[in-house]
Amino acid sequence: MKFFVDTADTAAIRELNELGMVDGVTTNPSLIMKSGRDILEVTKEICEIVAGPVSAEVVASDAEDMIREGKHLAKIASNIAVKVPLTWDGLKACKALSSEGHMVNVTLCFTAAQALLAAKAGATFISPFIGRMDDINLDGMQLIEDIRTIYDNYGYTTQILAASIRSVNHITDAARIGADVITAPPSVIKAMASHVLTDKGLEQFNADWAKTGQKIL
Ligand code: G3P
Repeated sequence: MKFFVDTADTAAIRELNELGMVDGVTTNPSLIMKSGRDILEVTKEICEIVAGPVSAEVVASDAEDMIREGKHLAKIASNIAVKVPLTWDGLKACKALSSEGHMVNVTLCFTAAQALLAAKAGATFISPFIGRMDDINLDGMQLIEDIRTIYDNYGYTTQILAASIRSVNHITDAARIGADVITAPPSVIKAMASHVLTDKGLEQFNADWAKTGQKIL
């Protein structure tokens, strides 16, 4: 499973990247706002840190302007994936940009029907928003499962990028179902290492070790 980091915080990206945990990065207008930095400048820096796909999102609402913005963003680096929303205009932009060889991430997906359209429009990635579905008592994991089944039924190569990940369980569930990629905040990726029994076990080992009076070095 590929891990993308859902942030524009370059220090956090560097830290995870050094551990080999970063296969790509996703950003969106909210994350750019949170970074307090210029979109072109911060995205360029991210592309220099990470070799894999870095999603940069358009903000226009009509296809023509999305395509213009997408082409501009794609000039930042060869690993840019242009992110477009799952609207009819977004699908038009997806088709145009993917036909010209750009990676495209279709975002804000909430139904399997939308995901099917994105695959037909040539999306490289489809981003179903798990957490936001859970927020309104819809089943985000069922959506991932449905998209997996549909894509596999017809051999679509669009990668399922489970997004709006809020918990470690979201990641393990998405992995079990067969999502190709997850994108999660750095804090959730780091939380994957934590377990209360690991902490408790370590505490016991340290206490027993102290009783031996030994040193390894
Ligand atoms: O990748 C999408 C993500 O940034 C949205 O997450 O937590 O704002 O729903 P969230």
